[in-house]
Amino acid sequence: MKKNKILVTGGLGFIGSHTVVELQQKGFDVVIIDDLSNTRIEVLDGITAITGVRPEFVQMDLKDKVHVASFFEQHSIDGVIHFAASKAVGESVEQPLKYYENNISTLVYLLKNMTKNKVPHLIFSSSCTVYGQADELPITENAPVKKAESPYGNTKQIGEEIIQDVTKVFDLNAIALRYFNPIGAHESVEIGELPLGVPQNLIPYVTQTAAGIREELSVFGHDYPTPDGTAVRDYIHVVDLAKAHIIALQRLLEGKNKSKMEYFNLGTGTGSSVLDVINAFKKANQMDVNYKIVARREGDITSAYADTKLANEELGWKANLGLEEALSSAWQWQLKQK
Ligand code: UD1
Repeated sequence: MKKNKILVTGGLGFIGSHTVVELQQKGFDVVIIDDLSNTRIEVLDGITAITGVRPEFVQMDLKDKVHVASFFEQHSIDGVIHFAASKAVGESVEQPLKYYENNISTLVYLLKNMTKNKVPHLIFSSSCTVYGQADELPITENAPVKKAESPYGNTKQIGEEIIQDVTKVFDLNAIALRYFNPIGAHESVEIGELPLGVPQNLIPYVTQTAAGIREELSVFGHDYPTPDGTAVRDYIHVVDLAKAHIIALQRLLEGKNKSKMEYFNLGTGTGSSVLDVINAFKKANQMDVNYKIVARREGDITSAYADTKLANEELGWKANLGLEEALSSAWQWQLKQK
């Protein structure tokens, strides 16, 4: 039987690389497009070491219309998982046009080529950021999409809308996966998160502080209306997250989707505060993390965690790995970095 060939854009990034591993382990043929703007080519070796298969890789910027068009003409693709995007919230405020070009223009080209070449399935990397500070917790998929706090957040909202409009008039079915906070690394420690420069996200900052690369972690805000005063998020192991992409893709390939565009939250359903994370890290790794409490970070919300019922029932997916397992793998990954 012919294997399905799946294009993974941004397939050498953090979530992308873990998803490529799961795809290959399920027998899919994978072709990756990545411009290496926020990762390293060595990730390809990590994927190969885990799966025994070196995926086809094309180094390409999705803004390069001519090459994207010829890529689709040369490859027969059954489905696309679209990760490639810029993702730093602060940078998006400073450089909005970079975000609209990298995240929106590229999506439009991608969809033009998919519809022209009759590629019928798309999984889109979305984010819980579309909900902003939701009025009710846990957050269901029916929670209203609030005005975005940043150009980055806006690109996820607009991206979802563009795809929805396209599914209405073309033979395209899509699923938007709204991630909560992805963390951790593959258990083999062959792949993980590769933040370039000073990390903006909590977990890489924690592991770099424990490793002595950073002196001290700043805990942003201690006066939130939460049990310990620090902000609450739903941290989900990247391997659990990656697995959900394969299930969502299979749902489309088998025609089991209930509408042409579906949305699912991907989280654990459990909220953890910044101090919970620090304590879980200490427990999992027997390592201390120096930290100090500082002012809130602008644009941060108080609390977000997922209602996972829809993903549990419709996708038959749930997160299996816990916070300590994720923090242990993140630490093992940190130890491997030079
Ligand atoms: C943000 C975005 C999310 C995006 C993600 C990836 C929002 C609302 N969320 O998630 O859409 O996908 O970044 O870039 O825009 N913290 C500290 N000290 C630190 C770093 C973080 O205390 O040095 C705290 C933050 O205040 C927050 C929590 O840790 O409460 C998690 O922060 P982070 O890892 O940056 O993720 P989000 O801001 O939740």
